[in-house]
Amino acid sequence: ENTPRLPVIWEHYQECTCCSESFIRSNHPIVADIILDRISLDYSLTLMAASGHQAEAAKAETMKKYHGEYILCVEGSIPLGDDGNYCCIAGKSAKETFLEAAEGAKAIIAWGSCASNGCVQAAKPNPTEATPIHKLVKNKPIIRVPGCPPIGEVMAGVIMHVVAFGRLPKLDRLGRPKAFYGKRVHDTCYRRPYYDAGLFAETFDDENSKKGYCLYKLGCKGPMTYNACASMKWNNGVSFPIQSGHGCIGCSEEEFWDKGPFYER
Ligand code: SF4
Ligand code: SF4
Ligand code: F3S
Repeated sequence: ENTPRLPVIWEHYQECTCCSESFIRSNHPIVADIILDRISLDYSLTLMAASGHQAEAAKAETMKKYHGEYILCVEGSIPLGDDGNYCCIAGKSAKETFLEAAEGAKAIIAWGSCASNGCVQAAKPNPTEATPIHKLVKNKPIIRVPGCPPIGEVMAGVIMHVVAFGRLPKLDRLGRPKAFYGKRVHDTCYRRPYYDAGLFAETFDDENSKKGYCLYKLGCKGPMTYNACASMKWNNGVSFPIQSGHGCIGCSEEEFWDKGPFYER
């Protein structure tokens, strides 16, 4: 209770803001507890009351006062094309503000597939040269939390680990937290017994589909996708894509947007 709240700067670059949307729906822990009691969210253009000059001043103050101590969260990829003109905030390019904020950060969290892998903005021919953040900064620890978006409880779990233990969670060779990305969706999918038995839906509306058979022949990428969707599920454990009748499209894997088509093997 006496631990000072961890200062956090949360940047938004080329993204759709659904990572923030996912985060604010975390129920375990409840996100209000994180934002109000555990961290000091000093800058987030989505979740802070201030805007414009006031918001930029708050960020500048945190970067100065907590140099080397704050956590930098990044939502979105960074466009390098056309001198970075595709994404500018407060008169500076995304690259400029990212490098500036990264310099004094203790660690960086790459939220979602945009910051981790470039995501759909980086789809061929990648007109803005959308770039994931680990390609721009090499001298800071970076936690990659891919998914489009990541599960809210995964995001909350990652940030709470840093708050509670003062260090990064255990990461795999790609920089993803092992606790959430250690298994494939396929490994814990409730349709797995059908896969093992060779029982597959052939179309989205056939009898096998109605019986809940495996969606592999409809393009499910669960066997190649590392994520916790099948075990933690979404919307407070209610469901996940496969339970809703659609195969996994591999949204937490690099270049999933170019590795389609989504509806064929
Ligand atoms: Fe949106 Fe997906 Fe990017 Fe998150 S990773 S900001 S959900 S496009
Ligand atoms: Fe694996 Fe997908 Fe079939 Fe589930 S639906 S068992 S993830 S192939
Ligand atoms: Fe994404 Fe597949 Fe989970 S599409 S949300 S990784 S089931």
